[in-house]
Amino acid sequence: MTGLFDFMSDFMSNVIAIDGPAASGKSTIAGMIAKRLNIAYISTGSLYRAVALACLRAGRSLENVPRSFLETLKLEYRPGADDQYELMLNGEFPGAALRGLEVAAGASKVAAQPDVRAYLLDVQRSFANKNLIVMEGRDIGTVIFPDAKYKFFITATPEERARRRLSQEGERFDAEALAEVARAIAERDEQDANRPIAPLKPAADAVIIDNTGLTLEESMLAVLEHIE
Ligand code: CDP
Ligand code: CDP
Repeated sequence: MTGLFDFMSDFMSNVIAIDGPAASGKSTIAGMIAKRLNIAYISTGSLYRAVALACLRAGRSLENVPRSFLETLKLEYRPGADDQYELMLNGEFPGAALRGLEVAAGASKVAAQPDVRAYLLDVQRSFANKNLIVMEGRDIGTVIFPDAKYKFFITATPEERARRRLSQEGERFDAEALAEVARAIAERDEQDANRPIAPLKPAADAVIIDNTGLTLEESMLAVLEHIE
């Protein structure tokens, strides 16, 4: 029997939208879901990071990045490791260069600019097709795909997120390093949540998952249980 969800879902974007603040586990969980369901996974934060990296490399200001500069960038997603899509900037995978604190802070700066967001909107929407995909960022469920079939907002306490980001680097860290990363994350969250366009916030119809006390596997299952 065809239920109301099946009927409605014909008119929705075939997207699992995962939004949330920095280091909440969005990309890792999105990657696990993608593997489990054998679908593509796209991290949209890498687009904003790539714009910031390109500005830094070109020695240009991160303020008011003009469309003429954005149009010179070659931004494409290509299958990378694990067969999942990875962003290529000007013909190469930027890899670790995208992950530093300076690039993250720069990404948040350029992400507040209307021209940058408008430019990157089409790149992100071009992924919607008949195949289910999982896409992760800050505004996927609110702006990019407000009609996504599934929406999640994943979060954890700021302290836990700072600890995770540092552990991710695989090095030992002290209280001072933890405080510095917590400060950088809090600053970025604040900027992302308070910008006038596409602010970081849960969509009204998103499932909110606070995974502070959850393992990765438990977090992934908390998402999966809502997906048909
Ligand atoms: O994509 P986002 O910045 O939200 O976070 P991530 O890069 O996926 O996760 C940050 C780190 O937290 C990774 O090393 C994850 O393995 C870890 N993590 C965790 O240990 N437990 C969780 N419940 C969620 C994430
Ligand atoms: O991995 P993490 O959560 O630390 O950051 P990210 O997802 O790579 O995003 C970097 C920055 O890009 C964020 O702080 C946001 O300012 C911006 N961003 C955004 O505005 N909209 C998105 N859909 C994704 C990222």
